[in-house]
Amino acid sequence: MTIISKNADGSITVGEAKGLNGEVHVPGDKSISHRAVMLGSITDGTTRIKNFLEGEDNLSTINAFRQMGVVITEDGGDLVVTGYGMDSLKEPDDVIDVRNSGTTARLLTGLFSAQPFFSVITGDASLRKRPMARVVKPLCLMGAQINGRDDDRLLPLAIKGGKLKGIKYNSPVASAQLKSAILLAGLYAEGETVVKEPAKSRDHTELMLKAFGADIKVEGLRITITSKKKLKGLSTILVPGDISSAAFFMVGAMITPLSELSLKGRDVTSGVGVNPTRMGIVTILEKMVGSGPIASGLIKRSDNVVPDNDRGLWYEPMSTINVTSADCYLKGVDISEEELLPAIDEFPIICIAAAFAKGRTVISGAGELRVKESDRIAVMAESLRAVGVTCKEKEDGIIIEGSGGKSIKGGTIDSHGDHRIAMAFAIAGLRAKDGITIKNPECADVSFPGFYDLLESIAQ
Ligand code: S3P
Repeated sequence: MTIISKNADGSITVGEAKGLNGEVHVPGDKSISHRAVMLGSITDGTTRIKNFLEGEDNLSTINAFRQMGVVITEDGGDLVVTGYGMDSLKEPDDVIDVRNSGTTARLLTGLFSAQPFFSVITGDASLRKRPMARVVKPLCLMGAQINGRDDDRLLPLAIKGGKLKGIKYNSPVASAQLKSAILLAGLYAEGETVVKEPAKSRDHTELMLKAFGADIKVEGLRITITSKKKLKGLSTILVPGDISSAAFFMVGAMITPLSELSLKGRDVTSGVGVNPTRMGIVTILEKMVGSGPIASGLIKRSDNVVPDNDRGLWYEPMSTINVTSADCYLKGVDISEEELLPAIDEFPIICIAAAFAKGRTVISGAGELRVKESDRIAVMAESLRAVGVTCKEKEDGIIIEGSGGKSIKGGTIDSHGDHRIAMAFAIAGLRAKDGITIKNPECADVSFPGFYDLLESIAQ
């Protein structure tokens, strides 16, 4: 049975499904893939990246480093990055357009601040609206010269890099992109650079910098980095499956009766990444399942999948995640800022889980969601209403009245070019009587190329 149909105007319609079943090989983690290319590019020698995510955002990172002379090739499905050391990047001879990739824009701003050259970073219409002042401010305190639109708050940014000095910075937001920009600049800065976060954001940069031999120390929310002349290099990085991509299937299986999914990494040696700073989606779904009689069986993290640990092979913790249907057991819950932070990118799909839960879900402390690839609070509220879900937008979140496991009506929504909005509503379509039509669905390629085909292949 076909669940997803393509319409003449480029939109797609996802119709009701009986269940999702089988094994899903989730593509590589977006955040880790970016960092692997970046650090591989400034180390001496060759870094082989397995399960690299070939999403649009990561291709933007590859293009940026190619513009700086780094040799990046494909070999037997792996990405191979050949770097010539920390001071080897060449001045790009044109503007670097990172399109929709906020991570590329912000991390590169940090790295470029320390390079002895001039560079300009721009992005697509959505990224050109997103705040850059949060990275520009601390980098300028370190001595970088950065100019941009709207009083240096927006892309394009023009960066005249050079010698930096370390700072102690109390970050006003828990943002991994901001933290990472400062750490990448700190890798080159004179003296110590200290960054303290208000709460712990994803720590992939710290973990990978350490693996690459950087002089980095993590003490709770405080991270200290001291400059280095040379990174040690890793021969191979194995990228786990992206838990943010797995999240769509977790919720899909939970809201669709007769589902049983096993979520794994892209190849047989890998699982889904289970770094604790990214596990919020599992914690929140477990909370929504509550203490029902079969609760403990609903989301299972089976034993870690341990690949052959050759010398130089590096990876973050990963696991198979098994999920079965839970539609009548999901219940509405309150989700706080603290609970949401390790699930920051999962807000759209958490809203979909809430739409099928029994009772009311209140998500608070989600103000950062207004400056993601779209204003995710406004877009989710508007789109949920369009498909027949009762909800109310709050300044810092959303209140959603769940259907108690019943199908919703369905209708048409626009992705607003936001990959996670498009995929979240594709999942909601599995339980929509009239189906859900998604305008501009192709943006899913930003983080999950092949998402719709994969969904079709496991849906009955
Ligand atoms: C990311 C950090 C998060 C996240 C984004 C990826 C990263 O952004 O939302 O999708 O790879 O560092 P913020 O740092 O803005 O919270």
